[in-house]
Amino acid sequence: MGRYDNLNKIQAMDPIKDHAEIVKIMVSYEFPWDFQRSQIEMAFARFFAGPRIAGLVAKRGYAKTHPQKRYDDTSILLYEMIKHGYDSEQGRACIERMNYIHSHFPIHNDDFLYVTTVLIVEPVEWNARFGWRLMCGNEIQAWVQFWWEISQRMHMKNLPNTLEGIKAFKTDYENKYVYNSPWTKDLVQVFVDLISSWFPLVPKSLINVAFRCLLDDKSLQAFEMQAPPIPVKKLVEFSLRSRGILLSFLPPRTTSGLFVDHPSRSYPNKDYNIAKLGPSDENLKQKIGL
Ligand code: HEM
Repeated sequence: MGRYDNLNKIQAMDPIKDHAEIVKIMVSYEFPWDFQRSQIEMAFARFFAGPRIAGLVAKRGYAKTHPQKRYDDTSILLYEMIKHGYDSEQGRACIERMNYIHSHFPIHNDDFLYVTTVLIVEPVEWNARFGWRLMCGNEIQAWVQFWWEISQRMHMKNLPNTLEGIKAFKTDYENKYVYNSPWTKDLVQVFVDLISSWFPLVPKSLINVAFRCLLDDKSLQAFEMQAPPIPVKKLVEFSLRSRGILLSFLPPRTTSGLFVDHPSRSYPNKDYNIAKLGPSDENLKQKIGL
């Protein structure tokens, strides 16, 4: 199999009709590492820049007390849908579970749309900076279509159906709502601590600086973080770009790199039940005085 065989296959597919299959190939085989970093890790932190979102999540406290489980459960719920399709038995179970969890809280449609636009845009922007090749037009269109379908099943209204429209919504939301809030800073710290816990031999300050190198000025401001020294930022970006260039010369992946195709920290035996992922019923029903 050649390095560009998947790309050729994707380019011969229909980005609307075949969107779920294109997304599966793209995330599982073409860019699994990049999607995990950008769609789960960087995007996770970015949601918390929205004060309403951060306020609810912080008041609940669950993200702080169960950071690893929240990370794993979120990755599983999103990537089971990519592996099996959102209308498969597993995909429907994921959507039902997410809808059930969210039904306990008053969540504004715009906040749902914002989280969705971050989930869509973050991997595309990461790919433009660090990918071993650029995502092609069919991949981007399929990716947008995939999330548009999920937005319908999560009862969101008015998600734009083009990348330009999605970016415009995201920018507008950020201009209106993103500002410093005490919750944002706290939640992002919980998240950086989680990443640090995966690398016990690496000093926390180093993880913190690497994380800051990947953020734009606006996010740094929202997270009340200092800009990293420019030479360090350039070094981190150079390393990630070099990784991409190196990958382009290596043989293609023949096994899936999708999160759900590997054991995770919370489920080393992959023995999870989709209907039970996320907070327990008891936890969801706790009053938090919103
Ligand atoms: C496309 C949009 C969204 C997706 C795909 C999504 C996905 C998820 C997933 C997979 C979980 C379960 C993870 C876990 O708790 O272990 C979860 C939980 C949760 N989500 Fe969302 N979510 C979205 C938007 C939002 C928004 C906009 C808010 C709030 C304003 C929100 C608030 C929550 C809360 C409060 C929980 C329970 C866990 C906690 O308290 O931290 N979600 N969501």
